[in-house]
Amino acid sequence: MSVVAEPEPEADPEADPKAEPESEAQLEARFQAVIARKDRIEPRDWMPDAYRRTLVRQVAQHAHSEIIGMQPEGSWISRAPSLRRKAILLAKVQDEAGHGLYLYSAAETLGVSRQELTEMLISGRQKYSSIFNYPTLSYADMGTIGWLVDGAAICNQVPLCRTSFGPYGRAMIRICKEESFHQRQGYELLATMMRGTDEQRAMVQESVDRFWWPSLMMFGPPDDASPNTAQSMAWGVKTHTNDELRQRFVDMTVPQAAALGVTLPDPDLVWNAERGAHDFGQPDWDELWAVVKGNGPCNTQRVAHRKRAWDEGAWVREAALAFANGTGTGTDDNDNDNDGTEPA
Ligand SMILES: [Fe+2]
Ligand SMILES: [Fe+2]
Repeated sequence: MSVVAEPEPEADPEADPKAEPESEAQLEARFQAVIARKDRIEPRDWMPDAYRRTLVRQVAQHAHSEIIGMQPEGSWISRAPSLRRKAILLAKVQDEAGHGLYLYSAAETLGVSRQELTEMLISGRQKYSSIFNYPTLSYADMGTIGWLVDGAAICNQVPLCRTSFGPYGRAMIRICKEESFHQRQGYELLATMMRGTDEQRAMVQESVDRFWWPSLMMFGPPDDASPNTAQSMAWGVKTHTNDELRQRFVDMTVPQAAALGVTLPDPDLVWNAERGAHDFGQPDWDELWAVVKGNGPCNTQRVAHRKRAWDEGAWVREAALAFANGTGTGTDDNDNDNDGTEPA
């Protein structure tokens, strides 16, 4: 089959053709009631424009992070120290591509195309996680990224499985399962290196020293400098503040660092028995803002690489579209019915 039939519009069994259209206030009240009972908003439901804009921004930023995040690790696939390490890293980077695609699909249900989103990324109008603007300087970074960066991602993303927008929450459920594997493989790599030579242990420590603070920055600015948090929480888009999630990450990571035998590079990190949580130092927030504004060590390189891949893939998108529309004329075998048989 080469032509896809237009689907018939689905009949809404509850729609009464004689009913008056609902007023904006009624629609808003219905939306708020769904949020209040912690149910899901679905793509065809009415939603306030600001809710839609917030979600497009957040889901797109998340999708871009998955795709840009393939670069710092992808550059080590050809330099993996063994076949086993190469297979693990390849599988992990491939998972990240899948995460990007689920999330672009979720964003598309809000009325923006993947093409528009990618163009906003490569023209700098949409952002991705600041962490991917740091370079990967040794193979130990493959372990540290899995352990700390995917670990921070898990802290951020597990609560998002219950976010109020249905397609986003459902994408997160599958993504979180894969992120657990990512964190485990990173921890296992570091644990193996820590059982190795002094030189390997030094590589791990040096890598953790570089990635610790940028990992804390992944949760975003402190709550008092995060103006969108309150509205996002009221809409059920976010369920925890940046500082709550950062605290959870630190408390989860400290015992893992002790088990590995690495030192987290924060002299203020100490258990606070009264709070039942760790006290810790603040990242350099000026550095975060510099990276977010495009002045991190690798921003230019990451976006240029993405743009090159997008431009070089144009012919694939055109060919796929022509095939889907049944207008492809690129065969010379007179077998245009695409049924997999040889031409007669
Ligand atoms: Fe991911
Ligand atoms: Fe991951």
